[in-house]
Amino acid sequence: MPVTHLTTDSAHAREWISPAVATYIAQQLSLAGSQFLKLVTVIVVPLTNPDGYEYTHTTDRFWRKNRRRNIDPSGCVGIDLNRNWNISWGNLDGTSNDPCSFQYCGDSAFSEPETRAIRNLTAIFLQKLSAYISLHSYGQLVLHPWGHTDKKPPEYKKLMSMGKKLLRALNNNSHSGYMAGQSSWVLYRSTGTSDDYMYNLGVPYTYTVELPNTDSFELPTSEILPTAEHVWEAFVCFVGEVIGTPRAKSFCSKRIVTAINDYNVTISSWVDKGVPLAEAKTRVLNDYKKKLADK
Ligand code: ARG
Ligand code: ZN
Repeated sequence: MPVTHLTTDSAHAREWISPAVATYIAQQLSLAGSQFLKLVTVIVVPLTNPDGYEYTHTTDRFWRKNRRRNIDPSGCVGIDLNRNWNISWGNLDGTSNDPCSFQYCGDSAFSEPETRAIRNLTAIFLQKLSAYISLHSYGQLVLHPWGHTDKKPPEYKKLMSMGKKLLRALNNNSHSGYMAGQSSWVLYRSTGTSDDYMYNLGVPYTYTVELPNTDSFELPTSEILPTAEHVWEAFVCFVGEVIGTPRAKSFCSKRIVTAINDYNVTISSWVDKGVPLAEAKTRVLNDYKKKLADK
């Protein structure tokens, strides 16, 4: 069976929850084990915009673009990495050709090393790429193409129904408040974005997820971990739906439980979410012991 590939990226400097969530997803994947990872390959690009991100820590909390110097008399710095892709590039709709604007699209499509790097990375396994998720904040939205036009994408129904599944996964147990729909309708039109680029190249399930909050880039520190855990859980369910087999879908009702055994080794395994944590830990340790004994 072909391995399903997925990619994530986070392009905007001030949207701090995006790299945090991506890093958490990477950590969980490191614990997910072969039973999960033989079904899917996930390429996590946790931080697409490192110099912009650093700048939001040192100088301006609300910086959005990268920090490349523009060759321009204004002296304005930075290109919006989510306006620099080669899809309807430079069409000034939710996008600007003014280097001082926060939506500046750059001199040319792929003028930026950051967008080129992700383009080249994804090109390597494009044929296998089933899904692409671009992480942003804020707004709590699941957005699907197109963003550059109000027209419906070719496989609108397919895109929308999978988007609804992701939405349902995000709005489950005690969570709510996410909404879903076509980018250009639900949010605004914008050109040169990564999601439209990937979809245009044939990645069937392409989404931009606007993470919490609903009204600010400043998510309280206490909400970072709960948000990351919650998005990870939804992500597992989404992966199951994209792969589509009962086996892959079964992970949606499980969580990764870690426990430390008598030899101080961390053991992790998938256990049904209904099993209380203490009991789940015991089960993980016992199953591991049994597996060793069977060898
Ligand atoms: N907040 C994102 C941005 O402005 C949303 C992008 C959604 N995609 C789109 N093609 N409009 O870059
Ligand atoms: Zn963003």
